[in-house]
Amino acid sequence: MCGIVGYAGFREAYDVLLEGLKALEYRGCDSAGIAMINKEQGCLEVAKVAGMASLLEQRTRGKLSRSNLGLGHSRWATHGRPSDKNAHPHVSCCHTIALIHNGIIENYRVLRAALEKEGHRFLSQTDTEVLVHLVEKYYRGDLLEAVREATDRVEGSYAIAVVCSNEPQRIICARKDSPLIIGLGQGENFVASDFAALLPYTRRTYILEDGEFVSLSPESVEVFDRGGNKIVKEIYEVEWDIAAAEKGGYPHFMLKEIMEQPQAVRDTLRRRIDLEAGRVLLPELDLTAEEARRISKIYIIACGTSSHAGYVGKYALERLASLPVEVDPASEFRYRDPLLDQNHLAIVISQSGETADTLEALRLCKEKGIRVLAITNAIGSSAAREADRTLLTFAGPEIAVASTKAYLTQLILLYLLALYLGQLRGTVTREQGAELVRGLNGLPDQLVKILTPECLTELKEIAVALAHWDSIFYIGRNLDYATALEGSLKLKEVSYIHAEAYPAGELKHGPLALITGGMPVVALATQEKVLEKTLSNIQEIRAREGAVFLVASEEFVGIERQADWVFHIPRVHQLLTPVPAILPLQLIAYYTGLARECPVDKPRNLAKSVTVE
Ligand code: G6P
Repeated sequence: MCGIVGYAGFREAYDVLLEGLKALEYRGCDSAGIAMINKEQGCLEVAKVAGMASLLEQRTRGKLSRSNLGLGHSRWATHGRPSDKNAHPHVSCCHTIALIHNGIIENYRVLRAALEKEGHRFLSQTDTEVLVHLVEKYYRGDLLEAVREATDRVEGSYAIAVVCSNEPQRIICARKDSPLIIGLGQGENFVASDFAALLPYTRRTYILEDGEFVSLSPESVEVFDRGGNKIVKEIYEVEWDIAAAEKGGYPHFMLKEIMEQPQAVRDTLRRRIDLEAGRVLLPELDLTAEEARRISKIYIIACGTSSHAGYVGKYALERLASLPVEVDPASEFRYRDPLLDQNHLAIVISQSGETADTLEALRLCKEKGIRVLAITNAIGSSAAREADRTLLTFAGPEIAVASTKAYLTQLILLYLLALYLGQLRGTVTREQGAELVRGLNGLPDQLVKILTPECLTELKEIAVALAHWDSIFYIGRNLDYATALEGSLKLKEVSYIHAEAYPAGELKHGPLALITGGMPVVALATQEKVLEKTLSNIQEIRAREGAVFLVASEEFVGIERQADWVFHIPRVHQLLTPVPAILPLQLIAYYTGLARECPVDKPRNLAKSVTVE
C-alpha cells in the first residue's frame, strides 16, 4: 500500500527520495509527493501529484532547490480520491511542518472538527491531514515531543515521518500497527516502510516496534519509547541484496518470480527434510508430541492468495495430521464468533506479515488464548513478531503485486507442517512419510520441466486465445479446486478478465447456464480418485460448446481426447499436485495480461501489502 521514504545525509535528497518512491511503487500507488528542507533558506519545499513517481519526477526534476533532508510518499487512496491535494506530504498551516503517513486514523472526523474550530485550515479529504495539524498544535520547539503528544490523541494505525523547517537537521518517525524501518549509513540515515527503498544504500537496519519514536539526523539515530526513555535497538542485517529486488533481465517481476520458483522451493525445503530418515524437521515450532496430540482443531486465517494456500493446507492437514481444519478469509474471521478453545491452533498465512485483517485476526486469537503460528516471507514483520511461533518461507523478495513464488513456498511449508504434525501425532506411517519427503524433495526438478521455452510458448498461445474473452471459469475437484481458486485470482489480477473458480461438481447448480459457444473453461485434473467425475463435468461443458483448456497430470493417458487443449504437468505425489499445477495457470495469467496490454506487475487499484482494513 502506501510507501514511506525519508533521507538525512550528504546526498541530494531529491535523488534518494525519487529512487525510493520508484522502488516502493510495487506496493500499490496512485499519487506521489516529496517534502524537502531547502538547504540555503531552511524553508520547506513540497511537490505532489496524482500519479506515479515518474510523473512527479517529470514535473519537478531540476525545479526544486538543493536539499540533503526530506521525505517521500507514495499513496494508495483510502480516504479521498487520488489527487494532488490528497497526496502526501501534508503540510501545517504555517507551512513549517510536513508529514507522511501509512495507515488509517480512525477518529479523524472528531479531531478534524475540533482542529477546524481552533482555526486550522484543511486542504485535503484525507484522514492523515489531522496528524500534521495536531503536530502543529503541540509544537513548542521540540518536534519529537509534538509528535508524541499528537500520536497520543489518535486512534488507528500509523507509520509516520515528520520534518519541521525550524529543526532542519532531523526527521521524527513513529509507528503503530504499520511497518517502519530505519536504514543505518555512514554520515547518512534513512527511514522507509520497506527494505526495497533502503537496499541501494545499506543493509543495516532497525525494525521499529509499535510505540517507538525515532529522531534521525545524518549523524545519529535515537530510538525512544512512548515515555521518552532511550531504547537500545538490535541491528538487523538484510540478507538479500538489491539484485534480488531488480528484474535481472526479465521484462517483468512477475515472470522473474515465476521462473524463480524451483529455487524458492529448494530454499524453503533446505534443512527441513531428512531424506535418509524420511522425516520432516521443524525445530522452529518447538512442539512436543504430547502438545501435537492435544491439538483438536486448526483454523487457517489469511487474505487473498495466502488464503488459497490455506485451502491446500486444509487438505494436507486433514489427510496427514488427521485434524479438522477451517479456512477463513481474515476479514470474515474477525467479525464472526468462532468457537475457540485452548486446544485449537490458529495458523495465519501472510507473505508480507503486515496485512491488516490478518494481523487483527491473529490478535483476536491471542486474546482468546489460542496459540498462533505465522507462516510468512517477511522476517521481522508484525505477524512474525506477534505470533507464538513463525515458519519462514524463503521466497526472497516478491515485488510483483500478484503473488507467485510466495504462494508456492507457502504450500511447501503447509505440506511440511502437515507431515510434521502427522509424525508427532502418529497419523502417518513411516512409509507414507518417507514417500512424501522424497516427493517434496523432487519438486524443484519437476517444476523446472514446466518452465522450458517450449512450454512457455505453448502457454502463450493459449493466453492469446483467451485474451479476447470477458469471462472465464476455472473448475476442479478436491485439491484441484484449491488450485482453480488461485488460478482464477491470478487471471483477474493481471488481465482484468472476470474469472471465477467453481468446484467442478457445482457446475450444474448455476454456471452451466452461462456456457455457450466457445466460452472458455480452464479445468484441472490431477486427482485420480475424482478423475472420472471431473471428466464427466468436462463433457457437460463441451456438449454445450464450451471450450475446455485442461491442465492434467501426465500419467493420465488418453486424456488429450477429452478437451480442446491439454497441458501436462509432470508426475508428482497426488497430494503435491497443486505445486506444479499452479505454474501453467500463473503463466497463462501473465501472458493473457500481456496480450491485453495490462501493467502486469502493478495492476490498477491493487496493492502488494494491504495494511489497512
Ligand atoms: C494483497 C496482494 C496479494 C496478497 C494479499 C494478502 O491483496 O495483492 O498478492 O495475496 O494482499 O497478502 P499477504 O501479504 O497477507 O499474503
